[in-house]
Parts: sequence; structure tokens; C-alpha cells
Amino acid sequence: MHRLCQHELYDCYILKIIEKFIAHQHAGRCSSLVLAKNVKKTDSFIALFPVFVSRAHRSRHHVLTYPAAPHSHATLPTDRLQTIKCVIYPTRPSAITYPTMPPNTLTYLVKSGHAAPSADNSQPWHFVWDGETLSITYDTERVQDLTFPPRSPATLLSIGGVIENISQLSDFLGIPIKLNLFPDDPRVPNCYARFSIPDIENNTRNTGQHPLFHRHTNRFSYRKEGIATDIVQILTGLSEGKSRIRVFNESGPIRGVTELIRTASEVRFQIREVHEWLEKSLRFTEEDVKKADGLDVRTLNLPPGGNLFLQFISEWDRIKILNKVGIYKLLAAIDSRPVSKAPAVVAIIGDTGDRGSMDAGRLLSRLWIQLNSHGIAVHPYYVVSDQLTRLQKNKVPEKLVGQVEEMNIKGNQLFDMGENETLHMLLRIGYPTCQPPRSLRLPLEKVFTDLTKPQSERELRGT
Ligand SMILES: Cc1cc2nc3c(=O)[nH]c(=O)nc-3n(C[C@H](O)[C@H](O)[C@H](O)COP(=O)(O)O)c2cc1C
Repeated sequence: MHRLCQHELYDCYILKIIEKFIAHQHAGRCSSLVLAKNVKKTDSFIALFPVFVSRAHRSRHHVLTYPAAPHSHATLPTDRLQTIKCVIYPTRPSAITYPTMPPNTLTYLVKSGHAAPSADNSQPWHFVWDGETLSITYDTERVQDLTFPPRSPATLLSIGGVIENISQLSDFLGIPIKLNLFPDDPRVPNCYARFSIPDIENNTRNTGQHPLFHRHTNRFSYRKEGIATDIVQILTGLSEGKSRIRVFNESGPIRGVTELIRTASEVRFQIREVHEWLEKSLRFTEEDVKKADGLDVRTLNLPPGGNLFLQFISEWDRIKILNKVGIYKLLAAIDSRPVSKAPAVVAIIGDTGDRGSMDAGRLLSRLWIQLNSHGIAVHPYYVVSDQLTRLQKNKVPEKLVGQVEEMNIKGNQLFDMGENETLHMLLRIGYPTCQPPRSLRLPLEKVFTDLTKPQSERELRGT
């Protein structure tokens, strides 16, 4: 157990990083140490750092003290230390809050998965604990016909995020869990993953402050300032399976990405199914927002009157008529405009297929957590990937197929796409101008079944 001093969270993370660093050093794998935001990199810190290493090395339970919190990002090249790229996470005051349940290790692992992002905040997952394993499934009963189907790339991206979050938290808590992807179990339909979790009751103090609980979407405007080059380097180095990241921070390619999003968005506003999913997910009133099962319109950064307008056009029959006079063009222009002004855009590219989408989802969450930890805002755009998937499945209206095919060719060139690769997600990123409202999550009782509890107790919780 770590003893923590007043800078407890910092200490905790620094200790983790140092442990990792020592392990890498012993494995002979390192040559420079990258310290992220919130780590003071004054001369005294640099001078102290080797002391931290030796103190931590001697005693893993030592209370560390170090200079107070700070602001930017720095690389510490040293000849003695070999290479490891580390991010020390900053802490923030507020994280997603959930209705009460005892804060044991299992609950925290479920909470971490439940904090993952999902299309329109649909939270299509369900967690099942049988006393030894935690399974992640699709909640057909709750989300069928309201969002993407179970084996769609969009759902698998979300599930990848769930898996990444649980893996990060178990790693952080030092729990040796085993992951089995797509377990073959006819009793559990649409089971994406199963974690075997040993019977460990950890000290979960401060666990809720892990950066994964601070990850969030920011659809508001960003500052013009470019992203620091060393951060771009770290991002570009991230990967999962065959999924990789490309960062665009020059005006030419950003214009190219904006065009792709505008085209895909024009098509999107003419597709009934997608429009109806959005309509069902929008939450306009405070009372509906509190139910925590959809997209709070306050997170959408609508202009004055935008709320009413969105409410009006969210009905398919209305937008269908307005589309005759080209409203979809206006909506697509509004949707893509923030991208044209972004200091950078990130593309997540990877293999097609279920495993490719899941890996991309893991990478998406990892990247997003790191970006938010560095104080960088993230706004995902799935619309291009969605149209490409629809094209493949013959689900684009016939009159629009040519437009999507042309977009596909342009995208392949822009992203330098290899064979069997696809675009999984685009992100607008930049330094935020404000803290946006946070999307809520459903109460844990709605997404978690504990089979070790008596049936009567479970039914009570589900109500
Ligand atoms: C597969 C997927 C697709 C998404 N597509 C979009 C999108 O096109 N536009 C957008 O603004 N947000 C998009 N999001 C973000 C979700 O709306 C967001 O994660 C969700 O509302 C929960 O909010 P949070 O990220 O703040 O926790 C997407 C997220 C996922 C996982």
C-alpha cells in the first residue's frame, strides 16, 4: 500500500511512472524521459529526479515530496537515463459522479468501463459479474433500434473504450486481470470481452481521480494556438494492434479533412435512420437530462435559438421537406466549420473488421485520456467513417452513392490508407476556451448485473 502525503495524487502517479521507468531501465529499453504537463521541470526538479528514482527504488512505499504543480510540458534528455515516454497525469477537481454503490474494486472497474465514450452517449454496454469474471455485452433490451447495432464499427469503438478503461484502471491498481476477447459462450449473446479478476480487495482511495474519469467531449471553440510538437510526437507514437494515429496540423490537410466532413455530413442529414437515432438521443429539458441516457443539448454548443431550431428539425418529416430547399447543405457547413478552424485534427486509422474496430476504440480512449490530461480538448467526428461503413454495406441512398465514393477516394489519398485499412475516427483537437458541461452516465444499477447477489436484490436495483 502506498502512503500518501498531501500531494497524494501526484505522488501516486509519479511513483507509478518511476516504477515503470525503473523496470524499463532494467530491461535496457530507455533513453530519455518525457514528463508531461503539471510536472514542474525546474532545475531543482531535474536535480532531484535521480533522488526520487533511488528513493523509490529503495522503498516502494516511500512518501515522495517534490516541487509544486506547474504548467507546461517538457522533455528531460539525460545521457545516464535511457528512454521511456511517460505521461504524468494532472489531476482535476471534478469527475463523473455516479449514484452510490459501495466503492470496492469491482465497482470501480465497472465504473471505469462505464465512463467510456459512446455514439450519442447511448452507453450500449452491459456488465455482468459472476463472482470470477466480468463480461461486457450489448444491452439489446435497452438500446435496440436507438443506436448502432451490436457488431457495427461504432459500437465496437465504444466497447474498445470500455476495455481500455478497465485495463488502465486495473493496471493502476496493480490487479493482474486476464482479458478474453469475443469469448465463445452461447449462453451470453453479444459478449465482447470477459475479464478474469482475482479476488483482491484493493485500497481504492483516490481511484475515482484517475484521468480516465476526466475524459470528456468538448464541442465548444478552441484557441488558435498550435499543439506543442513534443505532444504531437507522443500522439503519433501511440498504437494498438494495427491501429495508428495521424496528426494534421497544417492548413492544407485540415482543409481536406473539413471537406470530407462537410460532404459526409451533407449525406448524413439525408439519411432517415441516423437522423432518427439522433432525435431519440437528444435531451432538451433538465428533467430528461437527469435520466442520463442520452445527449444533453447543452453539450452541443448551439447558438442562440439553436435549441428550438434543433428541436424543430429533429423530426424526420420536417427535415425531409426542408432538405428539398437544401437545408442539409447549411447544416453540414455549420457542422464542419469548427474543424476548419482547429489547430489540429487527428485521424485514427486501422484494420477493417471487428478486431480492427475494437483496437481502434482502445486507441481512441487512450489518446483521448492523454490529450485531456495535457489540457487539450477533443471533439470526435464519426460522420465520415459512418458513411464509409454504409457505403460498404450498401446503406447509402442510391442518389448519394457517387458522392460518398468520391469522398472515399479523397480520404484514401489524404490519409495514405493501406490495403485493408479504414478510417475509424476523426478528432478536432485544441486548447479549450471553456470547460464544457459534462455528459452524465446511467446509474450503475442500469448497466451492471451482479449474479452473486440474490435475484430479489437484483430486481430491486433494476427498478
Ligand atoms: C463511436 C463514437 C462516435 C461518436 N461520434 C460523435 C460525433 O460524430 N460527433 C460528436 O460531437 N461526438 C461524437 N461522439 C462523442 C459522444 O457523443 C460522447 O462520447 C458521448 O456523448 C459521451 O460524452 P463524453 O465523451 O463527454 O463522456 C462519438 C463517440 C463515439 C464513441
